[in-house]
Order: sequence, then C-alpha cells, then structure tokens
Amino acid sequence: MIYLMCPPEHFTVDYVINPWMDVETPVDRELALKQWDDLRRAVEDLGHVVHVLPAMPGLPDMVFAANGAFSVDGVVYGAKFRYPQRAAEADAHRAFYELAPDWRFVSPTQVNEGEGDFAYVPGRGLILAGYGFRTEPAAHAEAQEVLGRQVLSLRLVDPRFYHLDTALAVLDEHRITYYPGAFSESSQRLLASLFPDAVLADEADALAFALNLVSDGKNVLINADSVAYGEKLSAAGFRPVLVELGELKRGGGSIKCCINELRQAV
Ligand code: ARG
Repeated sequence: MIYLMCPPEHFTVDYVINPWMDVETPVDRELALKQWDDLRRAVEDLGHVVHVLPAMPGLPDMVFAANGAFSVDGVVYGAKFRYPQRAAEADAHRAFYELAPDWRFVSPTQVNEGEGDFAYVPGRGLILAGYGFRTEPAAHAEAQEVLGRQVLSLRLVDPRFYHLDTALAVLDEHRITYYPGAFSESSQRLLASLFPDAVLADEADALAFALNLVSDGKNVLINADSVAYGEKLSAAGFRPVLVELGELKRGGGSIKCCINELRQAV
C-alpha cells in the first residue's frame, strides 16, 4: 500500500473545531513528533510506502493528512475544508498530486474533508461517506460523479464522532468495522443489512479512537489505548498492531487521521 503522511512539526491546539480540542492544555510537540515517527516506522515495517508531505507553519492540523483528499483508482477528489483555519491545507495536498504524473486531480466545489468522511470498500467498488458535521451531502454526489463509484451516504449524529473515520473503518476487501451509536437509526439499519459480518465496536472502543485505524487487509494499526478492541480484531482473524499516539488525540485524531491512503490506478 502507498500512504501520505505529514509530520506534526507545527502541531498545536489553538482553536477548537471538535469536542476533543482544548486550548488550555498545552501540546507536547516533541512527544507528538516522536509518536508520529514511530507510527511512520510501524507502517514502513509492514512493507508499505510512506510519502511525506512537508508541514507548513500556521497549519497546526495538517498532521491529519487523511482530510486532504480522497483517491480511488488514480483519480483524486480534492478536499474543501469546513473551517477557515484548515482551508489552506487543501492546496498543499493538491500540489502533491499535481507534481506526480500518475494522478488525475479534480477540485471540489462542495465542502468535504477527504478520507475523514470517505472510505472505500474495494471488493464492492463502494464508497461509504459520512455527513452531519463536516462534509456536505452534496459532496457525496460530487464524489460519485468524479470517482465513478457508488456512494452510500451515512448520517453521523454524535459530535464526538464528527468524521466518518472516527466511527467506521474498512478492514479488507469486503469487511468493515464500526460503532453503531455514532450513526442515525436509518444509517445503522443500512450498515447492518449491507455488512452483516462487520466487526462491531462499542462506545468505549470508539472513545479510545480504536476505529480510527489503518488496515492493509491483514495487519491493523490501532492506537495503544485500544487493547480491548484489538481482541475483537484478533477474534475476527486480523492482526492488531498497537502504536502509541496519545498526543495527537489532543487535536481530535488518531492513526487513520494521520494517514491518507493513495489508491493508484490499477
Ligand atoms: N483537529 C482536526 C479537525 O477537527 C482533527 C481532524 C481529524 N482527522 C480525521 N480524519 N478525523 O479537523
């Protein structure tokens, strides 16, 4: 797999755009950088390629690279951030794709936060998309048009789980994992009927940001607070790989938020 990450060189919490952020508690940037480095090494140790997007001053949330775009089959649907504090990150991501010859980048007209609210289930050619807090439902239709894949819209209802990737993740070609309580009742019914074999997480798992994970279909990177959830993954046949990433939680993110998957043309 190929991923894009951005080091937390300018990471701070000096504005509040989700319930996890608190400007009163200072961030330990050294610790954040060390944890991020360990995460990158863990990804590479699994045999994957990590591209690094240079961090930019004045963009403290840029470490959450998942939000910068969403790609499927070599086509990249760019992000358009909800809050002005993060708006400029979208250009940095666009520049990354435009420099490489093998991507077709499409600029969005609708507000959407990239892989924060879009997930791809490869075996079904299906995109799962969240709305309710950040990404506009109109962006789901736009993504479907741009990427040529069916998009299933899911409504998020709990502000603690404000991005889809805090409540749901794709584990392999067909299987997903999610915390039902983060979704509206209709969306829960849809998920249950489409994914009867999903690995279900409970509220404690979701609060530990266990679902903010990255899976290569076998190995699943989860944060070190997610021990109980890791047992659920093991029981389902996956191999949990625990990585300490607590300092990034101060920004309201964990493993997945830091890692954008680059899905090249096949
Ligand atoms: N502070 C960031 C924000 O609120 C955190 C983003 C987390 N990223 C994610 N993919 N869930 O936008």
